[in-house]
Amino acid sequence: MTFDKDKKNVFSAIQPSGTITLGNYLGAIKNWIPLQEKYNCIFSLADLHTITVRQDPKEFHKNILQTYALFLSCGVDPKKSIFFIQSHVHTHAELAWILNCYTQFGELSRMTQFKDKSSRYSENINVGLFCYPTLMASDILLYKTHLIPVGIDQKQHVELARNVAGRFNGIYGEVFTMPEPLIPKVGAKIMSLQDPKKKMSKSDSNRNAYISVLDSEEDILKKLRKVVTDSNSEIKYSGSMTGVDNLINIYCCITGKNVNEAEDEFRDKGYKYLKESVAAVVANELKPIQSKFDDYIKDLGYMEKCYKEAARQANDISKEMISRVFSKVGFVPK
Ligand code: TYM
Repeated sequence: MTFDKDKKNVFSAIQPSGTITLGNYLGAIKNWIPLQEKYNCIFSLADLHTITVRQDPKEFHKNILQTYALFLSCGVDPKKSIFFIQSHVHTHAELAWILNCYTQFGELSRMTQFKDKSSRYSENINVGLFCYPTLMASDILLYKTHLIPVGIDQKQHVELARNVAGRFNGIYGEVFTMPEPLIPKVGAKIMSLQDPKKKMSKSDSNRNAYISVLDSEEDILKKLRKVVTDSNSEIKYSGSMTGVDNLINIYCCITGKNVNEAEDEFRDKGYKYLKESVAAVVANELKPIQSKFDDYIKDLGYMEKCYKEAARQANDISKEMISRVFSKVGFVPK
C-alpha cells in the first residue's frame, strides 16, 4: 500500500479477544471496507489491549490468527490498507508511556469502560486496564489520523485521545493531528439479544446474547428466535431500546433500508416473521465471509506475509512520529 500525502488518514483497531460479534461487524468493520477506496487506511489487531483481561496463552494466540483471517474475509485488503498486529510495532507501547505522563489520573478514572470492566473483573483491576485509553491514544496519534471509524462505545476514548493530543500540542507546538470519530448513523450500537438495554459484547457469558460472525445459519435463527418481544402485536420502532428496535436496526443496517421502510414491511406480519427475516439477511450477509474465512485460516503462510509486511510499513510510518515526540520532550537522540 502506498501512503498518499494528499489523502486523509484513517485508523481503527479491534481486540482479538475471542470471536467477532455482529455488533463489531455492523458497528465497525463493515464501515471500514469502503473507506479503503478513499483514504490511507491503517487497521490493527489491538492485542496489547487484550491482555488487560487475563488470557489463556494458547487461546489468545489462536484468537489473534483467527481475527486476522476474519478481517481479510470481511474485505480488509492488504494491498489497499496497512493491516498489522499491534504488538509487532514497538512505537505503540513507547508512545503510550510518554502519553501516560501527560494524562491525569482523574481523566482515566472517569472512563466508563474502565468502570465497567473493573466491576466485571474485580479480581484483576490491573494498571493496564486503567491506562488502556492512553495506549489507544497512541495507536491513533502515531499515524497522524484524521478519522477513526468506531462504534459509539469508543467515543469517550477518542475524546480522551483528543484531549491528550491538545494538551501535548499546547506545550510543544503542533505535533499531533486532531482525530475525529466516524460513527455510523445506523449500527453504532447493536444491543444484546438477551438484554436490549446492554451493548452486544463478545465477552458476554451468555452465548445467546450475541451472534458471532462465524455462527451457522441454524444458530443465528435459534438466537434471534429467543429475542424478547413485547405482547403488542403491531411491529413498531419505539426508540426506547427494545428487542424489536434492535431487530429492526440490524435489519436496516444490513439491507440499507430505513426504519420507516422496515416498519411498512413488517407491520402486520408478526414477530415470528420479523425474526426469521432478520435471521435470513444476517445469515446471507455472513455466508461469504465464513467461506472466505475457511480458506484464509488454512493459509497461515499468506497471513504471515501480510502481517509482517504491514508491521514493517507501520513501523516506518510511526517511527517518524515517535522521533518527533522524543525530540520535542528533550530526550537525547540515539
Ligand atoms: P472492540 O474490540 O471492543 O470493538 C471493535 C469495534 O467494534 C465496535 N463495537 C460495536 N459497534 C456497535 N455495536 C456493538 N455492540 C459493538 N461492540 C463493539 C467498537 O466500537 C469498535 O469500533 N478499544 C477498542 C480497540 C482499539 C481501537 C484503537 C479502536 C484499540 N486501539 C484505536 C479505534 C482506534 C476496542 O476495545 O474495540
